[in-house]
Amino acid sequence: MHHIHLNQCTSTQDYLKNYLQDGSFQEVLISCQEQTEGKGRQGKNWIQGKNSLAFSFSLKPNPLVSLTSLEIGVLISLFFKNNFSLDIKLKWPNDLMIFDFKKCGGILCQTFEKNLLVGVGINLGEIDFSPTDLSVEIAALPIIGNQKDLPEEIYKFILKNRLPAEAVKPLWEGLCAHLNQEVIIENERGLFVGIGESGELLLKTDLGIKKIFSGSLFLSPGS
Ligand code: BTN
Repeated sequence: MHHIHLNQCTSTQDYLKNYLQDGSFQEVLISCQEQTEGKGRQGKNWIQGKNSLAFSFSLKPNPLVSLTSLEIGVLISLFFKNNFSLDIKLKWPNDLMIFDFKKCGGILCQTFEKNLLVGVGINLGEIDFSPTDLSVEIAALPIIGNQKDLPEEIYKFILKNRLPAEAVKPLWEGLCAHLNQEVIIENERGLFVGIGESGELLLKTDLGIKKIFSGSLFLSPGS
């Protein structure tokens, strides 16, 4: 495993992609103190606090590729539970949640040749920045490690504990922050009843179970 820690970069995702130029698979981790153009999901910006974690690593996709980002969510949650007794819940598809539905981090996956580029941002310390996305409440974990060593521990944990496809659904649903709750996604309201075989969201509506493959999920007011 090769680890590069940077004081500053535009985005660890971009740095990792440039580093892996020839496209062959290598275990590489890029962590960074400050990103000037951090990327979030769905084209959003990602802004991090002074002590927050920002890192990207290469990974072989799960045999069922679309499950990989959910698998990473499960493994990150298990890492914090096992090492720090912290309960991180998961919000579909890729958000890390604490304290009753506040977002403390997110996962971004991009494919590049034989590699999956996995970017992880986790708020540590305090929220000392102005969030760009006002649709979600955010929070931070306590400072339990530093911006260089903690990403390396998380990456090593993930490499050592990869999950077979069939294990992802039950583990993910067990850690889900909104199982069997009323949610709104892409202007549809319904009961979140779990994830399907490919990791898609299963929404129970008056018309039956609908499969949703992408979008931003919100808790329905009053649920
Ligand atoms: C999300 O929108 O919730 C995903 C956020 C992912 C942010 C991380 S920070 C490290 C890596 N580099 C980036 O530019 N983005 C990801």
